Amino acid sequence: MKSVLKVIGYGVVVLIALLVVSYSVMHVRTTMHMNRVYQIQPAPVSIPTDSNAVAWGKHLAVSRGCLKCHGDNLSGKTINDDFALGLLVSTNLTGGRGGVAQQRSDSDWVRAIRHGVGADGKPLIAMPSQDSYYMSDEDLGSLIAYIKQVPPVDNEVPENKIGPLARVLYQFGKLDVLIPAEMIQHDAPRPESPLAGVTPEYGRYLVRGNCQGCHGETLAGGPPLVPGFPPVANLTKSGPLANWQEPDFIKTMRTGQTPEGKQLDSEHMPWKELGQMTDTELRAVWTYLHTM
Ligand code: HEC
Ligand code: HEC
Repeated sequence: MKSVLKVIGYGVVVLIALLVVSYSVMHVRTTMHMNRVYQIQPAPVSIPTDSNAVAWGKHLAVSRGCLKCHGDNLSGKTINDDFALGLLVSTNLTGGRGGVAQQRSDSDWVRAIRHGVGADGKPLIAMPSQDSYYMSDEDLGSLIAYIKQVPPVDNEVPENKIGPLARVLYQFGKLDVLIPAEMIQHDAPRPESPLAGVTPEYGRYLVRGNCQGCHGETLAGGPPLVPGFPPVANLTKSGPLANWQEPDFIKTMRTGQTPEGKQLDSEHMPWKELGQMTDTELRAVWTYLHTM
């Protein structure tokens, strides 16, 4: 009996040792990915200064979720703080104490928002550039114009600490959004940027940059993006939208309530932000989804 217990005891020790070793390997590998240096000289984007452009930039910051993560005054905030996933904090984008604006050139802003790479060449963690990559020069220019003129706010934000569960999920390919720079083809030709209007082309541009990151390349949805989230809905003709009309879609985006009476949780499907798109933007999105 004693020797059986001994064998089990050794087994447990060996198992724990194996787990410790494999976790250490994962830790080293994710750290290597996070410390990789990217040499990116982004193509210049002209940054306007007129008040219309700044107002459009603000509209983009609201409806594309920048303020949700960076705070209403862009001074940065804690997005997640637990042991398993870690401490995730967004950057203070203003010129106040703890903010980065004083040290950033126009090209640094472009590198961060379009490529997910920081001024030190390292990838930004969980900053969704895989989506903002698709913003046209005009939209990105307006967005940067807006960021550059927000009032300075003092807010020293702590450093990110990536937790063990986040590292394990990332290693198994279940949390690619941890390092968006790896999801971007940095030297591909810039995607097209059609004129704004209620057209399928403009709709496709908006869907590419705001919906496909979650709903998938084909928009057919799929498994939850993060463990514990609901599955991602199918936006094609074989999903619930098949019987919707344009007003149903717009109401869903603005209120989170679907025609079938389902209330969408804004933490999973960011309708509170996306629903602030203009009528033209939402109608273009619908036109594209509808004609797809
Ligand atoms: C899901 C949350 C989230 C959203 C949405 C988001 N960000 Fe970020 N952003 C972050 C985090 C987290 C960091 C810090 C990354 C790091 O330190 O590695 C960051 C970093 C940045 C940086 C780099 C700052 C520097 O150090 O130079 C810029 C610029 C930026 N974000 C702009 C934006 C803009 C513009 C938008 C909207 C299009 C946006 N972010 C949307 C989370 C977010
Ligand atoms: C951060 C990820 C994310 C983004 C970005 C996103 N969605 Fe969703 N969306 C989801 C998830 C997850 C669900 C399922 C929510 C649920 O079942 O509670 C969903 C559900 C929906 C639904 C409801 C379908 C139904 O009846 O169940 C619609 C409509 C929708 N999304 C449209 C869009 C459009 C249009 C965009 C881009 C403008 C978009 N979503 C961007 C994650 C996202």
